[in-house]
This record gives sequence, C-alpha cells and structure tokens, in this order.
Amino acid sequence: MAEQQRGSIIVFEGPEGAGKTTQSRLLYDWCVDHQIPAVKAIEPGGTLLGQEIRAILLQDRNNDQIDPRAELLLFYAARLQNLKEVVNPSIKDGKLVIFDRFEGSSFAYQGVARGLGVKAITDLSRMFVQPSGCIPDLYLFLDVPPGLGLKRKLGEDINRFERENLTFHNRVRQGYFQLYRGIRDGKYRLAQHAEIIDATMPQDIIHKMVVNQVIKLLGREDLFL
Ligand SMILES: Nc1ncnc2c1ncn2[C@@H]1O[C@H](COP(=O)(O)OP(=O)(O)OP(=O)(O)O)[C@@H](O)[C@H]1O
Ligand SMILES: [Mg+2]
Repeated sequence: MAEQQRGSIIVFEGPEGAGKTTQSRLLYDWCVDHQIPAVKAIEPGGTLLGQEIRAILLQDRNNDQIDPRAELLLFYAARLQNLKEVVNPSIKDGKLVIFDRFEGSSFAYQGVARGLGVKAITDLSRMFVQPSGCIPDLYLFLDVPPGLGLKRKLGEDINRFERENLTFHNRVRQGYFQLYRGIRDGKYRLAQHAEIIDATMPQDIIHKMVVNQVIKLLGREDLFL
C-alpha cells in the first residue's frame, strides 16, 4: 500500500480580537466542504491536560502573580501534550492541522511583551517542538491595531491577557512583526513561511486570502477562489 502523505500545519496568530478563531472556523468549514481532511487545534487546550492548564492561564481569577517563566512553561506543557495526542497523529494521517495560536504567541506574549527574551522560546522550540517534526508550514499573522482588536471583544468575558494595558498589547504586536521578519529571513525556524494579513478588512475578504494561501500550500490550484 502506498505510504500516506504527511499532512500540513497552518497557524493563525495575532493580537486579541484579530479574528483567529473566526478564520480558523471558516477555514475548517471550507476544508470540510472540499473534502480536505482537517483538524482544529486550539492553544492552550485540545487535550484534558491542556484544558486544565487553559483554566489556570486564562481565567481572570487570583492568578495575577504567575511568574512569566512559569506562564511560558505551562503554555509549552499544554502544547507538547497537544502535539503528542492530536497533532502528530493527524499529521501522520495526512490531515491539515489548523492551529488557533501556537509558538508565535509564546514568542510575542512571553518572549517580547513579558520581556523574557525570544531566546527562551527559540530554545524551547528547538528542544521540544522541532524534533517532533511539527514545524508549521505556514504562519498567518492577522494584524490589527490593539485598540480595534480589544474593541471587537467588548461585551465578551475578558481573560487575564486581555486585561493587560495597551502598552502590553502594542508590544505583542511588535513581537509578531519581529517574528514575521525572522521567519522570512530564516533567523527563526518556528515556521517554514509567514504572511501578514491586514485583519482590519472584512471577514469574507480575509477568508478568501487565507483560502488562496492554503490552496497554494496544498498544491490544489484547481480550487482557487
Ligand atoms: N475581519 C473582521 N472584522 C470585524 N469583526 C471581526 C472580524 N473578524 C472577527 N471579527 C469579530 O471580532 C470578534 C473577535 O474575533 P475572534 O474571536 O475571531 O478573534 P480572536 O483573534 O480569536 O480573539 P482572541 O485573541 O481573543 O482569541 C468576534 O466578535 C468576531 O465576530
Ligand atoms: Mg480566539
């Protein structure tokens, strides 16, 4: 029997309210409609351990004192469990794995905005993520000015990160730009390829741009929108 072709990994990144969850869902639905085997991977979460870690990290309760290094390692703990339980088996099955945040978030939030330094993330990635073969094929950075992203989320429950001030969120955004340039220049091996998408545009236009990127990635030019 012919060996199953390996799947691909695509990651949505970007600040709060950029539209990552919206675009992950639209892409997943598009895959289902076009018989492209796909799976959604949420960070942190996706596994039992991941859900418990998510509650610790995101809930707006008495967790203000979490040390940034502890925060970083908790994200990685959830991530590694997700890779083992969900991502690796899906990749082996030839599926497209759609991540709603991945290591890019650790880079921008803990590495840059919390000030831990990006080397902590590139080291953790080299030690634990890259050896498992889970280097994403494509990072899509949904870029919005933080004020707009946070405004979109008004009325929803806010988490521990959304409660940070605008200076913090601006640093997150700068972190994403730094990562984008580093991936493009081959300095950071967190992904094979990265694109920035202006996420102030309407959802359906962004979705078309996303789909066209995925079509190129999968070599399915017959499906161009
Ligand atoms: N392009 C868009 N234009 C206007 N509103 C949008 C757009 N994309 C998403 N939204 C809306 O903005 C809100 C936030 O979107 P979404 O939850 O997808 O963002 P997110 O990046 O996943 O946020 P978070 O970082 O909090 O997980 C939702 O109410 C969504 O409907
Ligand atoms: Mg989201």
